Amino acid sequence: MKNNRVSIIGCGNIGISIVLGLLKQQIIPAKNITATRRNIEELAHLKEYGVRLMSDNIEAIKESHLIIIAVKPYNIISVLEELKDHLNPGKQLLISVTAGVPISKINAVINSRVPVFRAMPNISASVGKSVTCICHNEVKPGELESVKFLFDIIGSTMTIDEDLMESATILGSCGIAYVLRFIRAMIQGGIQIGFDAATASAIVNQTVKGAAELLIERHQHPEFEIDKVTTPKGCTIVGLNEMEHNGFSSSLIKGLVASFEKIEK
Ligand SMILES: NC(=O)c1ccc[n+]([C@@H]2O[C@H](COP(=O)([O-])OP(=O)(O)OC[C@H]3O[C@@H](n4cnc5c(N)ncnc54)[C@H](OP(=O)(O)O)[C@@H]3O)[C@@H](O)[C@H]2O)c1
Repeated sequence: MKNNRVSIIGCGNIGISIVLGLLKQQIIPAKNITATRRNIEELAHLKEYGVRLMSDNIEAIKESHLIIIAVKPYNIISVLEELKDHLNPGKQLLISVTAGVPISKINAVINSRVPVFRAMPNISASVGKSVTCICHNEVKPGELESVKFLFDIIGSTMTIDEDLMESATILGSCGIAYVLRFIRAMIQGGIQIGFDAATASAIVNQTVKGAAELLIERHQHPEFEIDKVTTPKGCTIVGLNEMEHNGFSSSLIKGLVASFEKIEK
């Protein structure tokens, strides 16, 4: 599978994150990765790694086994129309990371010429730490494995029902922005209580990483670990309760649901 050739059609924010993650792990050789967009000069920084860059989508997919479509939803139909007669049944898999476009709609455009997957990674793919939710309809043995192999290189993967793909977009892909905003607020607080920005960032980043790794390794609910930090009548519980009085959890949940309602439209 590491000899599979990959093309990323519409290499913008998420496409570049995927390419950088693949380059970092060095499992798929750079020469087997092709990235496209119309303004190709925007990808010039990838050239030095040996990634193939082009603006011709049809040329880009010619030798590819895995074709990742990473354009915005309003561009996907025209890109699929452009590619459909050039897809190679039996040899290629098409993976859309475009949000909100169902497999049935993609199949309707490409006449089901190749198996279609949807995948929802996040931008931490660039450092090999994405979580990618994958869904598919009926596939042959080995096809899902090929897709998982690719996304496992840039983080972890899980297979979900397509019904949950929009939820996965909010929780996993948009979710990183919520976490980053939380981190920013922590840093701002850290500066107010005495640290310079760089030191505050270093403390907060490691604290957030440690919290996540604690939960991942111990398989615990956050509140179980929070109980270990909150001394009765202590400073942590006073701070946490003040945050809750000001709507901390409620605000986060409401924001997440607002994002979900937006994507559902
Ligand atoms: N950003 C994320 O964190 C993230 C995570 C998961 C999923 N997604 C989904 O991925 C999709 C792309 O998001 P994004 O943030 O990466 O958007 P983006 O930065 O705008 O990237 C899309 C790219 O597609 C290119 N493009 C448009 N039409 C094209 C065409 N005909 N041929 C080749 N390239 C074309 C654009 O470049 P040119 O204008 O130069 O062609 C652009 O760079 C969205 O549906 C989004 O929901 C995003």
